[in-house]
Amino acid sequence: MRIVFVASEGVPFSKTGGLADVVGALPKALAEMGQPVEVILPRYRMTKPGSVLPHLQSLTIPLASGFRFAAIQDGGESKGVRTIFVNLPEFFDRDGLYQEKGEDYPDNAARFAAFSMAAIELIKRTGEAPDIIHCHDWQSALVPIYLRHLYSSDPFFAKTSVLLTVHNLGYQGLFPPHILPQISLDAGLFTIEGLEFYGKVNLLKGGLIFSDFINTVSRKYAEEIQTEEFGCGLDGVLRARAARLAGILNGVDYEAWDPQTDKLIPANYSPSELRGKLTCKVVLLEKMGADSISLDRPLIGIVSRFAAQKGFDLIADIAESLMAMEVYVVALGTGEPQYEELFRSLAAKFPRKFFVKVAYDNALAHQIEAGADIFLMPSRYEPCGLNQIYSLKYGTVPVVRATGGLDDTIEPFDGKEGTGFKFDEYSPKALLACLREGTTVYQDQKAWRRLMLNGMQKDFSWVSSAKQYARIYQMLEKEKARPRATMAAGPSRG
Ligand code: ADP
Ligand code: GLC
Repeated sequence: MRIVFVASEGVPFSKTGGLADVVGALPKALAEMGQPVEVILPRYRMTKPGSVLPHLQSLTIPLASGFRFAAIQDGGESKGVRTIFVNLPEFFDRDGLYQEKGEDYPDNAARFAAFSMAAIELIKRTGEAPDIIHCHDWQSALVPIYLRHLYSSDPFFAKTSVLLTVHNLGYQGLFPPHILPQISLDAGLFTIEGLEFYGKVNLLKGGLIFSDFINTVSRKYAEEIQTEEFGCGLDGVLRARAARLAGILNGVDYEAWDPQTDKLIPANYSPSELRGKLTCKVVLLEKMGADSISLDRPLIGIVSRFAAQKGFDLIADIAESLMAMEVYVVALGTGEPQYEELFRSLAAKFPRKFFVKVAYDNALAHQIEAGADIFLMPSRYEPCGLNQIYSLKYGTVPVVRATGGLDDTIEPFDGKEGTGFKFDEYSPKALLACLREGTTVYQDQKAWRRLMLNGMQKDFSWVSSAKQYARIYQMLEKEKARPRATMAAGPSRG
């Protein structure tokens, strides 16, 4: 099959969060199974320039607001995955990917419309018709919308199916209605059956409606988003498409996240030789500026985008009680100014126990995974979450709220079995009780070691998730191969 990913970020070229980790790792896992994948990404300021493609150097993007001319660059091939960059400096040569200083770029609709259309035009000029275009989140949701509307009579795409993966329903690409003509879409799409959403244009909604299949990144989140509580206003659309919606848990790229081989941490360690983990803890505390280090205190680590989703208002509420406990906290993150301010003020108020770096720092993210005893993710909602899964491998015990992928990946410790601690109710009280439970078990060295080892032995590699994606691709391919009459009779009846 020809499979093309269209996404707005992917490691090692660009990243704001877990989407990039998935777009970096899933194609590799598919390629290892013998399925080559192409990945199309924007070329941002943070992306190292690629070389010129010999047969295709630039592309005209026929957007209604005016033609755009994208340079196309080859990001190289690695392990069966070819990456191609759409280089539109006026849109992507900026410090941020989607925003700066907590403010979305005002021209985001034009940026990702140009990118999505460039991806379609690029696909047309670089080979056979694809079987699958695999899109991710609102930034590439215009691909299925364009294919259904602007390219519906283009025979090149007649056998192409689109899978849309929703990594986070909280980000929908909402814009005023007047953008429709500017991004080459008919104003007739502004209806409740189309892209209209409470008076705005909702690109993710369009993607959900016009893709052949939808999935999200954990089984539990796939259920949650069909409810009013988690549906962010799109639960009705998702319920209507429930037969075409799956939940596939993200995997982990253990080439990047394994304490036995991680080059970014001060000492390597493994389940049979844990001593390096203590070195990582000491070096981390020293690096963050702790003066007198007391090793019998558990170190609670946080690495996160600072966003409302992540539940940090609960930490604000429990800060005094938490700091009365014998613990250290080391937090790394950037994002919404109010949370950056919260973490800075906690570090200033508790300078001997609470350490913060407000930045994006991949090396420090690895060092926190290795040096912490506990990893805290009190998320309000969490489609999958990757850091808690990385933590398991690093023997860093997750304390999480039982939501979405956090609930699917962490099993409560009962003294023998289990990998972490979970709380249900989104409340400061429940979080504090859960942290108390964790820090109490920490004092029992034997139990703690067992708990660490339980997590370290879990395998969340991409293999089984990649197989599930492959099954969806195959199912979609079979459906397209059927004669039209059968399709009309109902493609979802197997
Ligand atoms: P989300 O995608 O919602 O941000 P995930 O848990 O899926 O959450 O993935 C977050 C990814 O981004 C992880 O790889 C994590 O290490 C990384 N990350 C988040 N914030 C930072 C930061 N400030 N510095 C370095 N890495 C970060
Ligand atoms: C999103 C989600 C996160 C998920 C990631 C990768 O950003 O917030 O839970 O792990 O995408 O799928």
